[in-house]
Amino acid sequence: MSKWILSGLVAINAIAQVAPDLPAGKKIFESQCALCHGQTGTGGRGPSLNRPKLAKAPDDESLGKVISFGIEPEMPGSWQLNTREVISVAAYVRSLGAIPPEVLPGDAARGERVYQSKGCGGCHVVAGKGEGYGPELSDIGTRRNGAHLRQAILKPATLLPEGFLYVAVVTQAGATVRGIRVNEDSFNIQIKDARGQFHSFGKAELKELRKLRGETPMPSFEMSAAELDDLVAYLASLKGKS
Ligand code: HEC
Ligand code: HEC
Repeated sequence: MSKWILSGLVAINAIAQVAPDLPAGKKIFESQCALCHGQTGTGGRGPSLNRPKLAKAPDDESLGKVISFGIEPEMPGSWQLNTREVISVAAYVRSLGAIPPEVLPGDAARGERVYQSKGCGGCHVVAGKGEGYGPELSDIGTRRNGAHLRQAILKPATLLPEGFLYVAVVTQAGATVRGIRVNEDSFNIQIKDARGQFHSFGKAELKELRKLRGETPMPSFEMSAAELDDLVAYLASLKGKS
């Protein structure tokens, strides 16, 4: 067993016995977790953590495991933390969840109508309805705070998710297909088009492969301040599939 797996297991087994040091946990969080989860756990590249229930860390043991081992492939493990540090940062994460949920000004029911009238469902799925290549939004309210949602609607290109790439390919026959990269290796690329259809291409067969870095097919939306408040309240209310 490698050294870091061992130290992680020791950390987990010891969770129940060591008292956390909350200020130390806060420091570790701000230096090692905030990059992805936000300074106060409001989310960013990673999900928000200022929630009473974390799906992948429902109890202290699983939270310790997530911190030590990470979550493949997007969250790295913090193998360098010792037991006390893991326990302290876990306690700090729990304290973030004790903060009352954000109060947003809009009205979610009106926001649902804005969502429909703007055609968001042409690119996003909510609870099984909708289609297209945008990310599913069924539980977006558990992952993103109000400020992030606002920015995602007004200036989508400024918030592209890690690894997101919009591409345009031209085949030998001259057909152009635009879509989001799903997979790529040295020889092949697979993309998902606007209708949610998958296409696979051998790179050698393509006339052109353009990577539209920093671009997104999601348009910037303009709407009244009241509509935006309502739409954000609606998205924030989407808490999962159940
Ligand atoms: C490089 C970015 C990154 C760093 C650094 C990072 N995380 Fe994460 N974290 C993520 C991502 C992305 C996810 C979502 C992974 C998934 O669900 O597949 C995640 C998930 C989590 C979850 C589970 C949330 C849930 O909803 O169940 C917890 C808890 C967590 N991280 C805590 C931490 C802590 C504490 C640290 C610092 C010790 C940390 N993370 C460092 C990116 C990161
Ligand atoms: C033409 C397709 C398209 C339309 C229409 C569209 N989106 Fe998107 N949306 C995307 C794509 C692709 C992404 C992922 C890349 C990005 O962030 O721009 C995205 C990202 C998002 C995100 C960020 C998700 C996250 O995890 O951070 C939110 C929120 C969102 N869209 C909401 C909306 C809302 C609300 C509308 C309607 C007002 C809408 N979208 C209309 C394609 C679309």
